[in-house]
Amino acid sequence: MDNCSPKEAAARGALETFKDLISRSLVAGVGTGTTVKEFISVASELLRGKRVLSSSLSTSLELSSRGVDVVSYPAERRTVDLYIDGADEVTADGHMIKGRGGALLGEKILAYFSRVNIFIVGEDKLVGRLGSKGPLPIEVVPEAYPLVSEELSSLGFKAVAREGSGKVGPLISDLRGMIVDVYTGPIERPEDLEATLKRIPGVVETGLFLGMADYIVVGKEGCNYEVLRFTRKTKAHFM
Ligand code: A5P
Repeated sequence: MDNCSPKEAAARGALETFKDLISRSLVAGVGTGTTVKEFISVASELLRGKRVLSSSLSTSLELSSRGVDVVSYPAERRTVDLYIDGADEVTADGHMIKGRGGALLGEKILAYFSRVNIFIVGEDKLVGRLGSKGPLPIEVVPEAYPLVSEELSSLGFKAVAREGSGKVGPLISDLRGMIVDVYTGPIERPEDLEATLKRIPGVVETGLFLGMADYIVVGKEGCNYEVLRFTRKTKAHFM
């Protein structure tokens, strides 16, 4: 490989390592973000002709611009053979925070229903504890936001409705939830936090992706990469 950034190294490394698996997959899910964009650019030829499910509108547009047809989910086939995505923070045991690109719900649905999950990250995404680098995004039913926000504050968390992306007012995801950033600080027990947040009515999903990775490809300086293998804990029972 010539010179490339860690995220490019991760994208190229995933293609090199999983080329056969990707070729054999009939239904592939694609996540969101700049690292995924790198992957689409190197793997578009392989993705053409497959039934590709997209986690967001931005990924659908990126795929279409490269001649990859996107099918809407639920697809005819009920399982996804393979899912590939980036992440915002990754720990040594394969837990992740996702959603800083605002697509966590679409991403979590596809990841849960996929047989094999591959995540691709630059080495800058590795952390000792989740929540070390930034807030935890969650997706909230817009009407419930004032109440959810009060509840989060009474649990000791500052929660901020995300704004920006050229829109006045809160950021609404492609699946119509409000993206709310929860300032947790470094998270000691991510499973407990996930359970606490999911117990709040109005919280549709959280950006904690715990035990959802089969593989994480970590891109490094100098176009190097490392493939980490994990035992997946969270997947659909019918797979
Ligand atoms: C999108 O909502 C996120 O979960 C992205 O997968 C994550 O933010 C990684 O994005 P980058 O590859 O752009 O860092």
